[in-house]
Amino acid sequence: MSNKMWGGRFLADPDIIMQEINASIEFDKKLYRQDIAASIAHAKMLAHCKIISDQDRDDIISGLKKIEQEIEQDKFDFSMELEDIHMNIEARLAELIGEAGGRLHTARSRNDQVATDFRLYIRDYIDLLVKQIEQLQIALIKRAEKEIETYMPAFTHLQTAQPVSFAHHLLAYVEMLNRDYQRFMDSRKRLNICPLGSAALAGTSFPIDREMVAKELGFDSPSANSLDSVSDRDFVLETLSAAAICAMHLSRFAEELVIWSSVQFDFIQFSDKFSTGSSIMPQKRNPDAAELIRAKIGRIMGAYNSLMLVMKGLPLAYSKDMQEDKELTFDALDSLSISLSAMIGMVYDFKLKRQTMLKAASSGFSTATDIADWLVREINIPFRQAHHITGQIISLAQSKNLALKELDLKDMQKIDKRINEGIFTILSVENSVKSRTSYGGTAPDNIRAAIAHYKKILNI
Ligand code: ARG
Repeated sequence: MSNKMWGGRFLADPDIIMQEINASIEFDKKLYRQDIAASIAHAKMLAHCKIISDQDRDDIISGLKKIEQEIEQDKFDFSMELEDIHMNIEARLAELIGEAGGRLHTARSRNDQVATDFRLYIRDYIDLLVKQIEQLQIALIKRAEKEIETYMPAFTHLQTAQPVSFAHHLLAYVEMLNRDYQRFMDSRKRLNICPLGSAALAGTSFPIDREMVAKELGFDSPSANSLDSVSDRDFVLETLSAAAICAMHLSRFAEELVIWSSVQFDFIQFSDKFSTGSSIMPQKRNPDAAELIRAKIGRIMGAYNSLMLVMKGLPLAYSKDMQEDKELTFDALDSLSISLSAMIGMVYDFKLKRQTMLKAASSGFSTATDIADWLVREINIPFRQAHHITGQIISLAQSKNLALKELDLKDMQKIDKRINEGIFTILSVENSVKSRTSYGGTAPDNIRAAIAHYKKILNI
């Protein structure tokens, strides 16, 4: 028997390999909830516009609700011959309610149906992701609050640069996540229009009410152009792009956690909950979760690239190529979601080694810039010269194997006789951090203000 949904003019079955390459049910069954919600909205509108009877509408709605239950209770028999979630549900509806089931597909097509379902699915997923982003921000802020006066070296080129507050470092990620949040919400705003009623690609001759369907499904409005409506996957690309950027942020943080937890750095330690052992080396505590988060960007960015390539050069309107949008998107969003969950867990979990961090913050001549700034401020030396003099002071300290604050004033005066004992007040890590009071700098008052700002936004 040829396909019972569209096989009217076909005499023979499709080849088994044709069925296999064509069917999407294995993965698009994930869309069942959205598909049913969209069908219910469509049926209500068809009845409202007198295209189907109220009785048919009621039968359709109760049939669809029954199907939803069957799927949720794992009692639904998904069939590959019926290709996808849309036809699986519609065929079952006809089994359950008879002829009325066949009226549901009036004035729509799978093209506008899948575009609607996918928008709904991604909208729901964005709502979950932004909640997770906020949870991670909350975790970072709760930790930051207790570490305003915990010092660490900040790096450029992974070389010790200047000391900062550890809270300041955590808050850098809060900022990144804030942008991620906005990017997702931005994408959500643009995706929230309803393609249903665009039918195959040209619209329909039935007197439908697209506003009504859009409203019923929580969309801001119906989509404007029927061709664009069924061929557009920008909303997926935008969401994947936001996901890739967010995953990139998580990857950078994960990398820092990996570095910090190494024996060489020893800034943090994960508890047993977030460490794994080695099957051969008993001393090891491996940060596997952080490494996996570091890696997830690969598949998320891969999804973005794949879909961009699928869409590139596709003529309007719908082509089956577009069915390739789903698996990779599901995988990318799931990957980001589990990364966020694991990162939230890790942020609460790690123990800080404050002494090691302070020691690291004090070494590597981390307060050299403070000397240069002091020479400018106190002695009015132009910064370029001050930089040069500071370089000589560092060479002196290096040759004597001393920290900057251990240098003898007389030795420094041999480099420049204008230097006085005031220089020692600025050489400690603490004073260096406290002095960075410019807007956005690492001084404690700035950090307190940033924390207060985010606590208000995040309601903590
Ligand atoms: N399963 C299809 C997809 O995901 C649904 C749309 C099918 N449309 C069509 N004209 N064959 O893209």
